[in-house]
Amino acid sequence: MAHPLIEELTLEEKASLVSGASFWTTRPVERLGIEGATLTDGPHGVRMQTAGADHLGINAAHPATAFPTAAALGSTWDPELLEQVGQALGAESRALDVDVLLGPGVNIKRSPLCGRNFEYFSEDPLLAGELGAAWVNGVQSKGVGASLKHYAANNQETDRMRISAEVDERTLREIYFPAFERTVQQAQPATVMCSYNRLNGTFASQNRWLLTDVLRGDWGFEGYVVSDWGAVADPVAAVAAGLDLEMPSSGERGPKAIVDAVRNGTLSESLLDIAVSNVLSTHERLRAARPADETPQSVEQLAEQHHSLARRAAAAGSVLLTNEGALLPLDAENGGKIAVVGEFARTPRYQGAGSSHINPTRLDDALTAIGEATRREVVFAPGFAFDGSDEETLVAAALETAAGADVVFAFLGLPDAEESEGFDRTHMDLPANQLRLLAALRGTGAKVVVVLSNGAVVQLGEVVGNADAVLEVWLGGQAGGSATADILFGSAEPEGRLAESVPLQLSDTPAFVNWPGNQGKVFYGERLYVGYRWYDTTGRDVAFPFGHGLGYTTFGYSDARVTVPDPTVAAAVVEVTVTNQGTRAGAEVVQVYVGDPVAGVDRPVHELRAFAKVRLEAGESRRVRLELDERAFAFWSPNGWVVEPGEFVVQIGASSRDLRAVETITLDVPAPEPELGKEATFEEWMQHPQGAAVLGQFLSGLGEAGAMWRDPETQKLLGSMPLRSLISFSGRTDIDGTVAGLLNEVDKAAK
Ligand code: BGC
Repeated sequence: MAHPLIEELTLEEKASLVSGASFWTTRPVERLGIEGATLTDGPHGVRMQTAGADHLGINAAHPATAFPTAAALGSTWDPELLEQVGQALGAESRALDVDVLLGPGVNIKRSPLCGRNFEYFSEDPLLAGELGAAWVNGVQSKGVGASLKHYAANNQETDRMRISAEVDERTLREIYFPAFERTVQQAQPATVMCSYNRLNGTFASQNRWLLTDVLRGDWGFEGYVVSDWGAVADPVAAVAAGLDLEMPSSGERGPKAIVDAVRNGTLSESLLDIAVSNVLSTHERLRAARPADETPQSVEQLAEQHHSLARRAAAAGSVLLTNEGALLPLDAENGGKIAVVGEFARTPRYQGAGSSHINPTRLDDALTAIGEATRREVVFAPGFAFDGSDEETLVAAALETAAGADVVFAFLGLPDAEESEGFDRTHMDLPANQLRLLAALRGTGAKVVVVLSNGAVVQLGEVVGNADAVLEVWLGGQAGGSATADILFGSAEPEGRLAESVPLQLSDTPAFVNWPGNQGKVFYGERLYVGYRWYDTTGRDVAFPFGHGLGYTTFGYSDARVTVPDPTVAAAVVEVTVTNQGTRAGAEVVQVYVGDPVAGVDRPVHELRAFAKVRLEAGESRRVRLELDERAFAFWSPNGWVVEPGEFVVQIGASSRDLRAVETITLDVPAPEPELGKEATFEEWMQHPQGAAVLGQFLSGLGEAGAMWRDPETQKLLGSMPLRSLISFSGRTDIDGTVAGLLNEVDKAAK
């Protein structure tokens, strides 16, 4: 709907409203009372710059809470918690006068090598979408807009501003779109940020199918589309495609090009009006959502409460990968010396580099937090330098420090230089000096607990072999250090579950041979088979499967039941009783996977279709109920979403490989009708309820040769033959006329 002020704006004013005023602001039109708005990064904290502006995280920013990165938040599997984090981010945005916070990033982790995986939630679209929607709902509850990014198929940093992601539509609809779709439909973000890359040859910023047909037409998006910073190559083509706001400011270049294009007739003014209306209406809606008498609290006032939330979230996203002999949690009161080894314990790596870089309100390091959490003797040695220097001296000193210790906490991970926005990793190894240190520590005979700080998965074979317990804390935000101490001594539970599979080695990963593309294109040749969809379908071993995570207690699953209320409707209800079988409270993530063993198209062996995080006291049981909707059974076809009738396998488990109950259900939905025409095959005609009889009659009418079609062997031979060939072999020359006649018969029979 056109905004009421459209009529009063001059062409120049309209063009000015669809291009930024500065690096972070939009333009006002004072004579009409139109205010500018401030947009800023996002997504793990509010990066409100106080000096020079940049999108690389270089210049200073106002202090703000650095929450755990999306890698950690993704591992919480906890939409409620993400909503709370969103609310806190919204409150800090209000405190700093930010109108739109640039996040969340819901791109799929296609390869462990993507330099920006730390900013994305998962390899699974349902999980990423549920978490994205919760985050957006939280932020927007404060009258601050979110910016869902980076739309779409931005799954690598290599050549990110030019590369064309070559992806077939089914893969987009089933893997790379649903997190955006779900977030739009459940949370209606104020803005969607288009990505830098091209999609199938066309820049996302100029892709009308992407920005208008799919986003608005199919999903009902109501906000505005903002460009990623500098993503607009052609401002006129961008407006024509449905891009509403170019950021940052391109000076007068963008507005002038748009004015000229409207004047010379190459851009319809109505398209510009749509973009202007989207921007104005969205900013108005955001402001209207704020209570008139609200005095936002300052970041300083919110800091303590938000630090506690960041601490809780960091523990909730930490994944206990192994825990031999229940070594963890450690007794904080009694026991021998604890050696803390590793530079990360003293100098935490708690956030990623690039546009999401936050100036934290405070920073907890694990070393201090461990010292405060225990009465036991704690000693420390850095063990390595981030730049790999002085290896021999540092290892020798660490061994000396660790001598006689009962337990070594080895803090390992990826230094800043190894992963960042802007480039991809070339391997998934931990630095070799850290692995050598770990092997040496193992030789001391002490129990070894490895704590990992990294934004994307690393190869873990050697780590697991040299450790009694492995705790993955990702980049856990400013309170990650204290959350780690909480977990090590058991005042918090490592509640996280893997939101991405940990492969054994890089060559096992699905995109391996297609990564990161070249000559301007990256082919998504693995199609739907991303993450566990690949490992589980091809039966490859992994180091740790999707959904895995131990916690400090164990859970039993019983009385699983899957009911289909009406078999003619694709929907089911899953119920299972989950019991905390241990002696302490804990959290479990119940996961439901669905497989379609016999299908008209290739499908992954199973896909996550529902999940629930349940917190239970020791001994407590709860009946968990999850709903599966039509989409849980559907695949994308050229005609849209399709559910085929027949059997589906519903699996309930604690990871994609730890399935505790499996039920088969039958859906009696109508079979999708094959599309008939001259290119439809004999087999497709025969599968069609009316087509079979019509074609049969036609063939029978061809005399003896034609009548042979009834023979099952002949049917096999004819199966893949298109109708046009069948007609041609019959000796008829008027193929189009014959096809039209047959289609007419089909129509008549259907009535
Ligand atoms: C990033 C975006 C970010 C923007 C503004 C871009 O380089 O891709 O995620 O929001 O800069 O800093």
